[in-house]
Amino acid sequence: MKYEIREMNVDDIYAVIEGEEEVFGKSLGFDFFYQDLKLNPFAYYFVLDINGSVEGYFGIYISDYMGDIINFYVRKKYQKLGFGGLLLDFIIELCEMSNCKSISLEVRKSNTKAICLYEKRGFVVSRMRKSYYDDGEDAVVYIKYFEVKDDSFRG
Ligand SMILES: CC(C)(COP(=O)(O)OP(=O)(O)OC[C@H]1O[C@@H](n2cnc3c(N)ncnc32)[C@H](O)[C@@H]1OP(=O)(O)O)[C@@H](O)C(=O)NCCC(=O)NCCS
Repeated sequence: MKYEIREMNVDDIYAVIEGEEEVFGKSLGFDFFYQDLKLNPFAYYFVLDINGSVEGYFGIYISDYMGDIINFYVRKKYQKLGFGGLLLDFIIELCEMSNCKSISLEVRKSNTKAICLYEKRGFVVSRMRKSYYDDGEDAVVYIKYFEVKDDSFRG
């Protein structure tokens, strides 16, 4: 199996939408991705490419030293093989390299699998968002803080 995490481009949009529909039952949609990819300097999108096929992706906004994960999935066929952890480690490294102080995301209260993944990597509960999702389910906002590198001169 040959895989890589690479930058998403416009040609990947339909494959990412197909995956979103499979795992979430709906997608952010073509226009959303197109505008972010073309116009948003704070948006970063990467895909998990396995044997030349898009099998996962993530999107994140990075600004003001904060990372905010937009969406994140691995297609069903490739789940439970460690790719979710791989993508999340990549996100964390991207935020560290961008000097982020924190990284946050929303997750369904019932999504124990994703929650396990986040907690293993040092994310902690920040707050709840009541009835955040269309079906009324609450979201849990998770946050991971990075060590602040203080290299200022102290006399
Ligand atoms: C969440 C998701 C990205 C994880 O991807 P994955 O490739 O299956 O993840 P991994 O194989 O790296 O496994 C991640 C961890 O989940 C844990 N896990 C696996 N199945 C689990 C389950 N049923 N319940 C609890 N934890 C579980 C494993 O312990 C694993 O950790 P470890 O291998 O380090 O011990 C994937 O399931 C997915 O895309 N789900 C649908 C979309 C989604 O929920 N996205 C997140 C939205 S916030």
